[in-house]
Amino acid sequence: MKRLRISIDGVPLDVPSGTTVAAAMVEAGRIVFHRSTRLGHPRGMFCGMGVCFACLLSVDGRPNVRACLTEVREGMVVETDRS
Ligand code: FES
Repeated sequence: MKRLRISIDGVPLDVPSGTTVAAAMVEAGRIVFHRSTRLGHPRGMFCGMGVCFACLLSVDGRPNVRACLTEVREGMVVETDRS
């Protein structure tokens, strides 16, 4: 299976093609994708099927992308909300 190189918060990661960003995050040991706006609570993958919006992060500079519905592409830049 072809492997693709992405980066998560600047750290390179090779993942199989067809992987979702959410699965890549888990493979990288990252479970916090963003923090809630009001209370700053950590949020990560919950439903895994695009319903709960708990997995939002930035992809290639585009904010609020659902990681569980987004397939990785070569050179993709993933950024979590680190505020
Ligand atoms: S995990 Fe629920 S929308 Fe992505």
